Amino acid sequence: MAKKTEKIQPVATQQPEQVVTFTDAQGSANVQLGKYNYTVKVECKSPEKVEVTLFNDGSVKVKFPADVGKKNSKVSVVDSNGNEVENVIVKEDILEVRNLKKYFPLSKTLLGKTLTSLKAVDDVSFKLEEGTTIGVVGESGCGKTTLGRTILKLYESDGGSIYFMGDDITHLKRKQMLKYRTDIQLIFQDPYSSLPPRMTVGNIIAEAVRVHHIVPKDQVKDYVHDIMKQCGLPRHFYDRFPHEFSGGQRQRICIARALAVKPRLVICDEPVSALDVSIQAQIINLLKKLQKTKGFSYVFISHDLSVVKYITDKIMVMYLGNVMETGETDEIFDNPLHPYTKALFSAVPVPDPDVKMERIILGGDIPSPANPPKGCKFHTRCSQCMDVCKFKTPQYIEHSKNHFVACHLYDNEVMSNLDKYNKEYKEMLLEEEQKALRNEKKQG
Ligand SMILES: Nc1ncnc2c1ncn2[C@@H]1O[C@H](COP(=O)(O)OP(=O)(O)OP(=O)(O)O)[C@@H](O)[C@H]1O
Ligand code: SF4
Ligand SMILES: [Mg+2]
Repeated sequence: MAKKTEKIQPVATQQPEQVVTFTDAQGSANVQLGKYNYTVKVECKSPEKVEVTLFNDGSVKVKFPADVGKKNSKVSVVDSNGNEVENVIVKEDILEVRNLKKYFPLSKTLLGKTLTSLKAVDDVSFKLEEGTTIGVVGESGCGKTTLGRTILKLYESDGGSIYFMGDDITHLKRKQMLKYRTDIQLIFQDPYSSLPPRMTVGNIIAEAVRVHHIVPKDQVKDYVHDIMKQCGLPRHFYDRFPHEFSGGQRQRICIARALAVKPRLVICDEPVSALDVSIQAQIINLLKKLQKTKGFSYVFISHDLSVVKYITDKIMVMYLGNVMETGETDEIFDNPLHPYTKALFSAVPVPDPDVKMERIILGGDIPSPANPPKGCKFHTRCSQCMDVCKFKTPQYIEHSKNHFVACHLYDNEVMSNLDKYNKEYKEMLLEEEQKALRNEKKQG
């Protein structure tokens, strides 16, 4: 295999703690950082997409994108003496959503053709690395639940793609999705209505274990007891019914039911919003513990930003079906860019009394997603709105590493041509006025 090493940055110019990241089309590459010098070989269907990172402690991370997946791959790393390196972390993006769309029809012609639709999820993209959590935040109605349900294939998507563990699951039918049913689980907001009232706790948890043959029949009961223990549910709960429990206990039962089928990805839709604060903390800690011990990945949907800060690695901010900003959690909290994110996050209490946060109150109502504003969908409520925002949709820009924002304020092209765009806007207004006048004349 030919080696392609030209993408490696020269080590002399790097700080010792820096990380070398690159991909190689041939599936073979040299990585070098300080005293470490390795050759990494990757065999899989698209090695050029695989990302190799060498950390300053000498460990190597080989990460597969969600459309390639690691399940059919082989990775080997050797040092400059030809010895196999053991300190290799092989990871994958368990989930990738690309330009996902879900439109709900509002009106149809007699022949069933959609005339108008509500764009609940419109062009949403993100990646989730295994064993990590992405938080999906935004005001009510911005499309969080619809996004979760579309990923789970409870709704058929209207565009875009969904990759899960190396497979394209976008167009799989219900029957074909059965294969993934145990891999992807959902935890709902409401632990009261999501449990069947006539089944005992033991049977609720055991049902999917039996259906999906997770363990041999004679081991199901012991297995369920073990899962209950991990979720903080005492043994004697086994024969009791859901109505006998509090909200926090019921949510533990829901988590136990999801966990019992050994999922890889759990979509948590507001899993703690129906619970009081002390119970919320217990459930969040349980989810975190399970992530550490079982390696779960979570899509965590919530409008409680304090909870999101605590549990997530990455945050995606949605508004009217669009992604406004994505980035690592600390980065988004420390340096929010989008005016909408700034307003949302200004409401989060800060524990340090010396830090004074200026609360930004968002004016106006959320526009109807059935008839969203043109240009930047947030422009009707944005305090920094410019003329260009009223007709031009902002591009999604990588402002700093892994920190993306959709706002003209960070688009150099737009900001250096504001006069041109202002003129364009004025011309558009004039044209619309003249059109309205012509229509009036016609009717009059
Ligand atoms: N089955 C449906 N049919 C038609 N419209 C729907 C359907 N489900 C959701 N919507 C609309 O899609 C938009 C997004 O709804 P969604 O439930 O995804 O929002 P959300 O962000 O989860 O809100 P919340 O925080 O209140 O749970 C809303 O305007 C909602 O009215
Ligand atoms: S694009 Fe314009 S309206 Fe939209 S958030 Fe940025 S400044 Fe505000
Ligand atoms: Mg919701």
